[in-house]
Amino acid sequence: MSSKIYYFSGTGNSLVVSKTLKEMLNENGEVIPLAIHRKERHIDVNEDILIIVFPVYFSDVPDIVKFFIDKLNFNSNTHIYAIATCNGVAGHSLFTIDKLLKKKGKKLSAGFLINMPGNALITPPDVEEERLRSQTNRVAEVAKCINNLEFGNIEGKNNLKSHIDSVVLHLVGKNMQIATTKFFAEDNCNGCGTCKRVCPLENISIVDRKPKWGNECERCLACFHWCPKEAINIKKSFLTDRKKYHHPDVTVKDIFLEK
Ligand SMILES: Cc1cc2nc3c(=O)[nH]c(=O)nc-3n(C[C@H](O)[C@H](O)[C@H](O)COP(=O)(O)O)c2cc1C
Repeated sequence: MSSKIYYFSGTGNSLVVSKTLKEMLNENGEVIPLAIHRKERHIDVNEDILIIVFPVYFSDVPDIVKFFIDKLNFNSNTHIYAIATCNGVAGHSLFTIDKLLKKKGKKLSAGFLINMPGNALITPPDVEEERLRSQTNRVAEVAKCINNLEFGNIEGKNNLKSHIDSVVLHLVGKNMQIATTKFFAEDNCNGCGTCKRVCPLENISIVDRKPKWGNECERCLACFHWCPKEAINIKKSFLTDRKKYHHPDVTVKDIFLEK
């Protein structure tokens, strides 16, 4: 049996889940950042088990993950699992993955939600601690299911309300609160380029010692959270004064490797 874990992660939650899972799988597979494939037209899947780990954005799936699934080319009878890390409101994100797979004649064997600290809305400190403490046990439950090649539930909600919530969140969050045009560097930015290096979409360039954002932003907030000077900000957003977050077991160098 062979397996591959593909992940997308801005602040490390999905990366930690992927690495923890890898250690718990019977078949030691690879952990691969899916962003490295974003310029490819087709991605061949020859493994017995494929696992996709991603953060929930606006009660749904980040576009980069959707495009990744669109490009998958299955050459084997692969068991497919997905894990969504989220801050408690996952909506129909895992059902979106299943729907995309069905277009390719495949489906999810099971989909799992793992509550983690939020990197957009703030998670209360006690809840954050509890989620970090219980993450290993939760991944162990998921690993057990995958090791047994079980067909299980797709977790989350797939009803009219979850779809309406997602549309509203998209409009408010993606187009207004975290609009790509609203990122900027405060005066204390020293042009170190960390933002450029953590951006999984290579969407940031440094011009005249300041970051310049292009049009490919996924809103993962890596630039915002990883800036060593805390100099990246978002105009008129609920995030403006937000305390910076990244998973405590992840370093900026781990995020550099994502592309
Ligand atoms: C743009 C954006 C939108 C988000 N939307 C949601 C959401 O709708 N529901 C939710 O539970 N968490 C949401 N989150 C929180 C993340 O899904 C969560 O913190 C995730 O574990 C972060 O994973 P990462 O550290 O691998 O990037 C959002 C985060 C971002 C950056």
